[in-house]
Amino acid sequence: MRYAVTGAAGFIGSHLAETLEAAGHEVVGLDCFTDYYDPALKEENARGLDVRRVDLAEDALDFSGVDGVFHLAGRPGVRSFGDVFPLYLRHNLLASQRVFEAAARDGVRVVFASSSSVYGATARYPTPEDAEPRPLSPYGITKLACEHLAEAYVRAFGLDCVTLRYFNAFGPRQRPDMAFTRIAFSLAEGRPFDLYGDGAQSRSWTYVGDVVAGTVAAMERGVGTYNVGGALEASMNESIELLERISGRTLDVRRHEAVPGDQRRTQADTTRIRGDLGWEPRVSLEEGLARQWDWASARVGTA
Ligand SMILES: NC(=O)c1ccc[n+]([C@@H]2O[C@H](COP(=O)([O-])OP(=O)(O)OC[C@H]3O[C@@H](n4cnc5c(N)ncnc54)[C@H](O)[C@@H]3O)[C@@H](O)[C@H]2O)c1
Repeated sequence: MRYAVTGAAGFIGSHLAETLEAAGHEVVGLDCFTDYYDPALKEENARGLDVRRVDLAEDALDFSGVDGVFHLAGRPGVRSFGDVFPLYLRHNLLASQRVFEAAARDGVRVVFASSSSVYGATARYPTPEDAEPRPLSPYGITKLACEHLAEAYVRAFGLDCVTLRYFNAFGPRQRPDMAFTRIAFSLAEGRPFDLYGDGAQSRSWTYVGDVVAGTVAAMERGVGTYNVGGALEASMNESIELLERISGRTLDVRRHEAVPGDQRRTQADTTRIRGDLGWEPRVSLEEGLARQWDWASARVGTA
């Protein structure tokens, strides 16, 4: 098969592109290397892949000749209030509208990477796909708007689209703004770690290889919307303890007020994706964190 992967220079997109290539597929990556984090890291992620510099929000898009589009490009991060909001509109909403438009026109199936952030203040745990979405951050709101936009293209133009709600992915190459990468590099470099909130906030951590497996299965045989979430919920405090144990080091934690828009808890109900796609998370938090620590410590030369 020949697949397009948007966001192929990013954390999850680069793992997905590599997995697809390893399975014998041809992959065309599309990414504009935004400066949300250091583009040099994205250059590294993209090494060995065919990633074309395309800004989905403005460049011409042509999906004729591809068998499916994995749409992972976007601007992540819940710190999305204030002046940065236009960037969330551009890289999430506008870019996705243009991807859906082109895919509907070219008759190509899309798997769209949405987020557990659409659930926000939903108080049902574990959270099933039909829980009422109540996003707490502008980021989550743009992702929910993208989901509705996809649905509108499905109804109006017969777009073939599957939506995945990823729950905190982790593993090697995790984005530098994400907690485990910040903790691992603080430990490796002996720097203090800024913890926002009391550390009791918890997440359904999902190993990136499992996220990729769920994403590929969704392209092959998914219908509708699926949670892609890890089996284990762990708090920040528990995750810090685990990384300290794995690294044999002690983290110097500086505590700060919680960040607005941050969810207290995420816990995925994965009944639907297990039943439909036979997917389940395989890599435990401990095993995945050990791999992430090996990656981070090798990068700073402390391995
Ligand atoms: N990492 C997670 O835990 C997580 C959780 C929920 C949802 N998601 C979603 O999954 C997707 C991938 O996340 P990630 O952590 O790999 O993020 P990432 O920032 O590492 O990757 C996203 C990539 O998209 C590219 N991009 C952004 N706007 C673009 C545009 N207009 N045109 C072309 N390329 C553009 C960026 O340059 C970047 O390389 C994102 O859509 C994110 O919102 C991620």
